[in-house]
Amino acid sequence: MPVKKNITILGIESSCDDTSAAIIQNGLICSNIISGQKVHESYGGVVPELASRAHQQNIIPVIDQAFKQAGMTPSDIDAIAFTRGPGLLGSLLVGTSFAKGLSLAANVPMIDVNHLQGHVLAHFIKEEGNEKLPPSFPHLCLLVSGGNSQIILVKDHLEMDVIGQTIDDAAGEAFDKCGKVMGLPYPAGPIIDKLAKKGNPEKISFNKPRIQGLNYSFSGLKTSFLYHLRDELKADPDYVEKNKADLCAGLQKTIIDILLGKLIRASKETGINEITVAGGVSANSGLRKELGKQAQKRNWKLYIPEFRYTTDNAAMIAITGYYKYLKGEFTDHSAVPFARMDIKQ
Ligand code: KG4
Repeated sequence: MPVKKNITILGIESSCDDTSAAIIQNGLICSNIISGQKVHESYGGVVPELASRAHQQNIIPVIDQAFKQAGMTPSDIDAIAFTRGPGLLGSLLVGTSFAKGLSLAANVPMIDVNHLQGHVLAHFIKEEGNEKLPPSFPHLCLLVSGGNSQIILVKDHLEMDVIGQTIDDAAGEAFDKCGKVMGLPYPAGPIIDKLAKKGNPEKISFNKPRIQGLNYSFSGLKTSFLYHLRDELKADPDYVEKNKADLCAGLQKTIIDILLGKLIRASKETGINEITVAGGVSANSGLRKELGKQAQKRNWKLYIPEFRYTTDNAAMIAITGYYKYLKGEFTDHSAVPFARMDIKQ
């Protein structure tokens, strides 16, 4: 069989509240379209039923746009990579079913992708004109999103071990839930990031958990934040409004301290100084700044993703699909999505 010169992968992501499609050729990005869902804003979190419905509405225009931006048609692709999990089952079903239909119509194989592996491999997406080298192996990845807070030992593109993870809430959840009690809309993470810049991170402090090993916990912080507001609001009903920036700065600092404490420990224990960060919370400006400081202090080689690849996107699904394609790892049309999935699955 002649060696194929170009390998072109269509990636589809629909695990939560972003419908996204991307095309990657030989690891190089050709298009990446993301359609968010405003419908959840007023509910303080993602409503699964509404998310599935919005995916149904968005998926065809998003895929169409991804082909147009890349200047391609379905006959140009070699495989379709889709997010199989973890995520919301109804949302995942939309992407999975669409992938099956297009796979039959275009007569190309399907590749199932683990969403968490996708976040980790976002660092391997190549862009025209950007000669940045990807991380080497092994490296440590701090994966922080709305659903996950993990430290991952990345041994190869498709070989990863979780060496630390949250035992309850994720870091993004801590941002969003504390934001909700301050009356901020969902997702509160980016708003807290903005407000924190105007506040004093030392003025209000919150308890940090003592959890064994490299694991995290954020539910205690949420409770501590809630009790602090409850007590202060008794004395002054305008407490939140008057202190919003300081509350955000204090909360953000506590979350960053918790995340970095375990990451530093993981680097010491494994002797690995090559560090990457991934997931929605990696967009946080305070976290990026503190990671930069620690990298200088500890001689880490640090990889921070472009903003467009931090939150959910199909480019990371397509790049993971590309590495699975190279290994001949395909799935068949009986594939079903999974709400829960380990990074090894
Ligand atoms: O990776 P992602 O898009 O979705 C999941 O797979 O969970 O992450 C979304 C999470 C939300 O919790 C959101 O509040 C948080 O990422 N986030 C941020 C920032 N941007 C997004 N948290 C803090 N600071 C930010 N700038």
